[in-house]
Amino acid sequence: MVITAKQEALVVSSWNEMKDDAPTYALKFFLRLFEIIPSAAKRFSFLRDSNLPLEKNPKLKAHAMGVFVMTCEAATQLRKTGKVNVGANTSVQHLASVHFKAGVADLHFEVLKFALLETIKEAVPYMWSEELKEAWSESYDYLVVAIKNEM
Ligand code: HEM
Repeated sequence: MVITAKQEALVVSSWNEMKDDAPTYALKFFLRLFEIIPSAAKRFSFLRDSNLPLEKNPKLKAHAMGVFVMTCEAATQLRKTGKVNVGANTSVQHLASVHFKAGVADLHFEVLKFALLETIKEAVPYMWSEELKEAWSESYDYLVVAIKNEM
């Protein structure tokens, strides 16, 4: 078991606290990524082709939400099966291919993890602990390793 029942419970209970505002939080951690690495925004075709401000772009919000939800779901999948299953509508091979073609690099994944953890800390300060951080961190790492292994 790569994720313990306690870690899964920490991820799920904090998700339940954040879920009503999850799209706002998700967007926030992507905007943080772009603050740290502005060129990362150029990886997205729909940002290159758009005049909308980043924070108003529905496709960016949808991608950000996807990352947030998939990281949360990975905790349960890892606890149950020891593996990440990215869902019925996609595959790790497909995600690897899309990210590889878009030129997404290790540093982007690393900085996004930092931004995700920082956002969770700000969203649920009363729940924040080293264990909560580790639980989200491991969930994210296994998800990203699954994608990167196919890249
Ligand atoms: C596309 C998930 C991290 C950039 C996608 C898609 C999904 C996804 C589901 C849509 C694939 C499709 O078109 O069918 C994830 C997950 C991540 C992650 C689960 C981390 C756990 C990142 C990071 C970047 C990034 C760090 C950095 C810039 C992109 C780009 C596309 C994409 C550029 C293609 C968008 C386009 O131009 O159409 N991602 N992503 N992703 N992702 Fe991610």
